[in-house]
Amino acid sequence: MKLKSILAMLPSYPHHIMNVFSGTNSIKEFKDVFKALFSKEDIVCGSENEIYKEVLKKSLNLKSVYTFASGRMGFYSILKAMKIGEGDEIIIASYTCVVVPNAIIYAGAKPIYADINRIDFNVDVLKIEALISDKTKVIYAQHTFGQMCDVKAIKKLAKKYNLLVIEDVALSLGAKDVNEYAGSIGDFGYFSTDRTKMINTSVGGFVCVNNQKYLEKFEKEYEKVEYLSSSFSKKLARTFLIDLVFMHPKLYWLGKFTNPVFRKLGVVKYFLDEKKHDKSLIVEYPYPARLSSVLAKVGISQIENLEENLAHRRKLAKYYNSIFKVYSDEYMDDCKNVFLRYSFLVKNRNYWEKRFSSKIDLSIWFKTIVVGKDDDFEDIYYKVGENKESEFVAKHIFNFPTHKNMEPKRVEKLLYELKNSGDIIF
Ligand SMILES: Cc1ncc(COP(=O)(O)O)c(C=O)c1O
Repeated sequence: MKLKSILAMLPSYPHHIMNVFSGTNSIKEFKDVFKALFSKEDIVCGSENEIYKEVLKKSLNLKSVYTFASGRMGFYSILKAMKIGEGDEIIIASYTCVVVPNAIIYAGAKPIYADINRIDFNVDVLKIEALISDKTKVIYAQHTFGQMCDVKAIKKLAKKYNLLVIEDVALSLGAKDVNEYAGSIGDFGYFSTDRTKMINTSVGGFVCVNNQKYLEKFEKEYEKVEYLSSSFSKKLARTFLIDLVFMHPKLYWLGKFTNPVFRKLGVVKYFLDEKKHDKSLIVEYPYPARLSSVLAKVGISQIENLEENLAHRRKLAKYYNSIFKVYSDEYMDDCKNVFLRYSFLVKNRNYWEKRFSSKIDLSIWFKTIVVGKDDDFEDIYYKVGENKESEFVAKHIFNFPTHKNMEPKRVEKLLYELKNSGDIIF
């Protein structure tokens, strides 16, 4: 048998988890989780759950916080608390993650897609009004890649039509408009803290309720949200430890082979509901579920280091920008932008992607209009051709990691080559 066909038979490395563990996790966090796993302590309902909520409230200046096992589950619970259901429509950007329309569909409602702009890859606010109908209940304000959308203009529009605003801060934890943190401006906000995000609790998310009219309703809904089982929580904690070791850049050569094996054996666990557009197909874990305290413990420590994390990302984004000059200096310094990725458009994406990927773990984010889905867009009510800008951006997006494990100096020559190629679309 030829070597090529033998290699083809080896398990391939799942693309979407490559850009993991951003170097924010500490040895102390590793030790804490390890100890918790092998002690008698309560790893599901421990005291860390409440402490974590308080820490989040204080550091992000939020009125109320409810933690979840993932951001998408928090979003779903917001929709349930609002009694969103059949016949209702939610306007979202057509440049998002598939778990967003999935949650809307699980609630029985329909996502309506608004086009985005090429500048910050956020919703084009001017395109929203034409999509509002008697069925519209919510305008969704997603802050993409760490760059805040114009949530204040969205709020104004929502007020005009008596609609509510949900902020999606999955990709922008820590961004703020002067003194108001992203997530605290709309009626609700929700965040993600999974392994690829600004802070990393392996899986996780949280919701804040800003509109006091909905506080009681949300609290009632949250009371119904189950905890993950102790055995599932153990698997998630074990996944955190294993990934922290095997996904480390220095052990990557090994991790890329061991991860598919660990997955097959059930040694590591992730929430894999991206391809499920029917909620009844999610059977392995409750959806929605609360965050287990063993991971809340990691969250507390992650928040302690948030400022340093944000400063590092800004520094790296500024380094990229010193070469590419895509954004103004003012934009780079604006606290609205926390640069989870440094993003821009290129003409010849495949070519540059290949070149960079041979040297760094690039894993460009959002290469389709709804990441996690490459075809059959009608499953999530999107008609191909509907939103030209979003489709253009998905085809041309290029973005670099800004996390601590990224070593841009390794590709400095290539960065200049890309800059000088004339392939960047301004
Ligand atoms: C834009 C956006 N919103 C929401 C989510 C959901 O976050 P989680 O994975 O924690 O459910 C994601 C996930 O990556 C996302 O990219």
